Amino acid sequence: MKKTQVFLTIFMFHFCVSKGQLQVGYYSETCPNVESIVNSIVSEAAQSDPRVAPFLLRLHFHDCFVEGCDGSILINDAKVTNPEIGAFGHQGVGGFEQIEKAKQDLEVQCPGIVSCADIVALAARDAVVLVGGPFYDVETGRKDGLVSNQTLADDMPDVNDSIDILKSKFLNKGLTEKELVLLSGAHTIGTTACFFMPKRLYNFTGRNDSDPRINPNFLPVLKRHCPKDGDVNVRIPLDAVTNEEFDDQILRNIKNGTAVIASDARLYDDDITRQVVDSYVDESSEFMSLFSFEQDFTVAMVKMGRIGVKTKSNGEIRRVCGSFN
Ligand code: HEM
Repeated sequence: MKKTQVFLTIFMFHFCVSKGQLQVGYYSETCPNVESIVNSIVSEAAQSDPRVAPFLLRLHFHDCFVEGCDGSILINDAKVTNPEIGAFGHQGVGGFEQIEKAKQDLEVQCPGIVSCADIVALAARDAVVLVGGPFYDVETGRKDGLVSNQTLADDMPDVNDSIDILKSKFLNKGLTEKELVLLSGAHTIGTTACFFMPKRLYNFTGRNDSDPRINPNFLPVLKRHCPKDGDVNVRIPLDAVTNEEFDDQILRNIKNGTAVIASDARLYDDDITRQVVDSYVDESSEFMSLFSFEQDFTVAMVKMGRIGVKTKSNGEIRRVCGSFN
């Protein structure tokens, strides 16, 4: 067998094994109320704090991209040295309280059954629905990981990565260019801290310049919100038009140069990702998709939720999401 064939066989084996243990309704016998318990925690929290839905959606991505969707990001136990959550790439991630609260309720109803990684996946779906996005069935059956280490998060996609690096970081997780665009579409909701803006606005190529992808009418708006040497904690919407609503507006923003963060703007730098963006929002594009962004987003979310899923041999069901058993 050629090297590439061997690699493909191993890859397919791992992919099938990972996917094999997940199923919709995995807890239907053992914890039939799992979805409604998670949903009620998420809905209640989101009602009193608009940051909850974006936090929970982002949390699932950050969980899955480091060590797989295994709740490794949730570990915050003083006994663990350098847990993953301290990584630079996880700056601003939130939603932990809601996950822990759901876990507490679940431990009362069905102790030792539901993994924290599954709670994160379910909460992300509920978050999407709460802001007007599409419902989708979430596969469950993940185990919680046994490792959480900062250095494992070194490869998180970075806001200032080039499109080639973003593509390769997604490809490394088995996700295509199309899925990079679709999943970045999550930036249709939520906010960014000005912390992530200075390079894009004031020093793009090291010559006191701005990202040329920014629409000239939009540049002064962004600069006003995030002035040079201003407060890096100020937060601005990622989708400057409809940031509280889950829709395809973020793709329109990318197309017309009004994306807020650099990584979204980069999706228009590359032929393939540009065509994907256009396929959803450009009526004249020859690639205009037959499906909606919302529908395809859900398929990509399900696929992201399969990354690096742990089995009984390398995982557990944590009693508390912030600590290993
Ligand atoms: C392509 C690579 C990505 C990069 C470089 C990136 C980067 C960022 C950055 C810099 C922020 C602002 C964080 C803050 O200020 O707290 C952010 C926010 C957010 N990201 Fe991403 N992201 C990426 C992909 C994704 C994906 C795949 C998802 C989910 C499927 C996602 C969901 C979110 C959400 C919902 C927010 C808003 C969070 C909030 O309001 O606190 N991102 N992202």
